[in-house]
Amino acid sequence: MLHTLDVRILLIASTAREHAIADALARSPQHPEIISICGSENPGLKRLSSTLHTGSILDFDFVLSIAKKIKPDFAVIGPDDPIGAGLADALQEEEIPSVAPLKSLARIESSKAFTRNLLKKYKIGTSPKFKVFTKPEPKELHTFIDQELHGNYVVKYDALKGGKGVKVSGEHLQSIDEGTAYGLECIRECGQVVVEEKLIGIEFSLLSFVSSTQVVDMPAVQDHKRAYDGDTGPNTGGMGTYTDADHSLPFLSKRDLDDAKEINRAVAAALLKECGEPYRGFLYGGFMAVRDGIRVIEFNARLGDPEALNILPLLSSDFVTICRAIIDGSLDESLVTFESKATVCKYLTPESYPVSKDQRGKEVTFPKMPENARLFYGDIREDVDGTLHLGGSRTAGIVGIASSIAEAESIAQKLCEQVQGPVRFRSDIGTEALIAKRVEVMRKLRGA
Ligand code: AMP
Ligand code: GLY
Repeated sequence: MLHTLDVRILLIASTAREHAIADALARSPQHPEIISICGSENPGLKRLSSTLHTGSILDFDFVLSIAKKIKPDFAVIGPDDPIGAGLADALQEEEIPSVAPLKSLARIESSKAFTRNLLKKYKIGTSPKFKVFTKPEPKELHTFIDQELHGNYVVKYDALKGGKGVKVSGEHLQSIDEGTAYGLECIRECGQVVVEEKLIGIEFSLLSFVSSTQVVDMPAVQDHKRAYDGDTGPNTGGMGTYTDADHSLPFLSKRDLDDAKEINRAVAAALLKECGEPYRGFLYGGFMAVRDGIRVIEFNARLGDPEALNILPLLSSDFVTICRAIIDGSLDESLVTFESKATVCKYLTPESYPVSKDQRGKEVTFPKMPENARLFYGDIREDVDGTLHLGGSRTAGIVGIASSIAEAESIAQKLCEQVQGPVRFRSDIGTEALIAKRVEVMRKLRGA
């Protein structure tokens, strides 16, 4: 085949999200060469990369030694840790641009205090009641939680902590004393802590491609963080996600989605003013639809996992062109097209995830994926003979794609049921019953 463009991309990877990124890049008519660096030998990345280097993606000397050798046109950095630690800055020093923000801009994810203060300073959306504490003064913390938040509070560790830094009253913390003690622990460990009002509502994510103040949105997604059916059990990295054919979600009003879009735009603009540098990459807005509108829960400086597994298979325009446009400032709505289809992603995990890693090393086999489904590998190892073995974390995401959420759910569910091995998944994600419940909660909350 004659390649008109010779694009070489360095992909910094950790899991199924980057398998989905590599898949979307590989579909480009520009036939890019993908060279990946990942902590493990992800079988999906291995198939899609000309070379897959394994090693620590936080070891910048290691990453830079490969980058300098291969001289990629650009890098795509998938996970939060290397972005938060400044890998885009280190690559920039070698004149390699990244689809990922520089360290100072990535504080939108790595510092909860930075984000809350930014939203307040630039008057973006409606902030929940919050306070940033920097001094280990138990009395002040206790009084704020008790008298200002009336015991309904959330305590946020002010640094990346693998999704485990946020503790919510009534869930992880059972009293004002426990909240105060965790707040003090956060201050001791990272110098400050955010304590804020606990919001009641339904969460959703709106991710956008961002190049400075140019912002193009992706379909809205709902994630399910709890381990077991019925939203019970411990929090996980995300057990599954869905999107709808109209790119909104059944429980959202047009106003909710428009407000979320507006907030992502305002945040991109505020980041430019605040940091003096343009944000280039993916901006992930985590929102809660509440009684009287929406609120920001958090921002991430990357694509979500599993959100990317739903969104990227729907991208029908050229992902390589979008990445280049993010870097050179030519990002525009006309470059981004998503199919008008619904998706449901269900994550298969080892049976005992996230409590223990007892099934590590056990064999797992997957059915062949039909046209209307995708399989993205996470924590999984492949033998030379092609046999697959479980790691300790999320194994693989199966995504059903159809004209309705119900059909997409049925596709994903049937395929998950055919997976052989000591794995489990959430049967309720994307079902009509679960979605009807979300719609009903929202209706009641809003008194409609
Ligand atoms: P974060 O790491 O900021 O996404 O927080 C993790 C989880 O904590 C979110 O997905 C929410 O479920 C919950 N959470 C965070 N902030 C709040 C809040 N202000 N009110 C209620 N729940 C929250
Ligand atoms: N699915 C949640 C996240 O990627 O942060």
